[in-house]
Amino acid sequence: MPEEEVAFSLLQARKFLQSVWGDVRPDACLVCGSGWGEVVTALSPTSCVAYEKLPGMGATMVSGHHGKLWLTEPGGLKVIVFQGRRHFYEGAGWGPVLFPALLARELQAGTFLLTNAAGGIREDLIPGDLMVVSDHLNFIGSNPLIGRILHPSVPRFPDQSEVYDKGLVNCIHASGKAAGVETKEGIYLALSGPAFETPAEIRAYAKLGADAVGMSTVPEAMAAHAMGLKVGAISCISNLAAGRSSERLTHEEVERTSTVALPKMMRLLSGLFSLLTT
Ligand code: HPA
Repeated sequence: MPEEEVAFSLLQARKFLQSVWGDVRPDACLVCGSGWGEVVTALSPTSCVAYEKLPGMGATMVSGHHGKLWLTEPGGLKVIVFQGRRHFYEGAGWGPVLFPALLARELQAGTFLLTNAAGGIREDLIPGDLMVVSDHLNFIGSNPLIGRILHPSVPRFPDQSEVYDKGLVNCIHASGKAAGVETKEGIYLALSGPAFETPAEIRAYAKLGADAVGMSTVPEAMAAHAMGLKVGAISCISNLAAGRSSERLTHEEVERTSTVALPKMMRLLSGLFSLLTT
């Protein structure tokens, strides 16, 4: 989608949201990736709109991604929650992928939290683990910041020394500890997908320093960080990466594991939003 169209549809989406929610000023924005959608029920949801109603976002095409934007109020905070995400591999360009970051910036949400399902590469990362992302490797094969400047706040050459805010990383670990949920930490490598990796690719990515692998998160994190939002990301390790087990990889397995880990995800996120209130 050309940049002018993205800007126009963002304006239209904002107008539509204003007609439904009034002048909402969220404190944070949460994007729910594969298997994370149901966490919304733990965040005191008040109302939702379907993605189809949001120009520039459009319906998600991936199973397990609900396609609803929720207004929630966990512990007195106002949080908009994208229940399901759009991916680069859907072939619709960067517009829908970056829409949540652009909308969060537009509504002046200070904190932008991303979640995903990922394959565990590092030996200690096993299905059901929650990994706080400390940094990333962008292997998508493109850069979401190519082209016209996304927003006046974005420099042509954004610094990326700390895409994932260290304070927020510490806060996520602290809320895990308080909720009795173990959190690990690692480097997320993003690929375009949609095919899963070969075992040889995973061995190569391990040598490059990747701890987990997935098909999302990095573009939105780059855009949100470049626009000045405080960014955090959490991966649910849904499977051992290709070659680490004899099992074949399927999206169904990814969804199944995330569902099993759901109670932990809910406790972690509710705890995190209570911490952010204080
Ligand atoms: N590879 C890429 N993306 C993923 C994986 C994986 O193993 N698991 C969940 N998303």
